[in-house]
Amino acid sequence: MNSSDQIKKNVAKKALEYIHTGQTVGIGSGTTVQAFIHLLKEKIDQGLRITTIAASLESEKLLKSYGISVDDTITSCDLYIDGADEIDEDKNCLKGLGRALFREKIIATMSKQVIICVDESKRSLKLHKAPIVCEILPFGFHATIKLIEKLGYRGKLRCDENHQKIVTDNGNYLFDIKLKDVLDDPKKAHLALKHIPGVLETGIFFNIVNKVLVGLKEGQVIEI
Ligand code: 5RP
Repeated sequence: MNSSDQIKKNVAKKALEYIHTGQTVGIGSGTTVQAFIHLLKEKIDQGLRITTIAASLESEKLLKSYGISVDDTITSCDLYIDGADEIDEDKNCLKGLGRALFREKIIATMSKQVIICVDESKRSLKLHKAPIVCEILPFGFHATIKLIEKLGYRGKLRCDENHQKIVTDNGNYLFDIKLKDVLDDPKKAHLALKHIPGVLETGIFFNIVNKVLVGLKEGQVIEI
């Protein structure tokens, strides 16, 4: 049986097969992506040349520390590599536990191919396990939460262990909606939430993922 870290490495290694010199590559955020960046460095050392755009300051820092070029003025990517918190049979996913959903969605949307790397535990027939994460504007956030609750959702403003509000790389707050039931219509849920002015973006990704790489406990990686 492979450990969780080893599974991340296995999936990251598979994702690396899609990267070629001359590409612009969107780089997501989270621990799976970190494993990917470590392997990317080895390829860079062997002569691979790419330009990247990163979805979080953490990923950007790691890429730069490895001498990998990061350019946030890029307007399109050949491909985007990221993790997810949960993914369903139709490749809809929930993202944002790592705080970076807003930039992740911007980069995924500008990418020709979106590849999501997960382990088996993150797969579901329908989304229900992970929260719907909303990035919300600090101004008027009480009112925004009230409107989210008016849609029937319940959740929590994300805080750290000292009960301080988590602030994203964009200077905003996060509201984590706990799902009571399966998310039958991810697009409808996203649009209803996005209709609230204080909701800047949601972690519901639909019609955006092209390929899913799933790392199995036994060590193989399957492509969906
Ligand atoms: C960050 C994300 C991450 O992709 C997601 O949380 C998965 O992270 P990990 O690879 O650490 O499990 O959406 O906003």
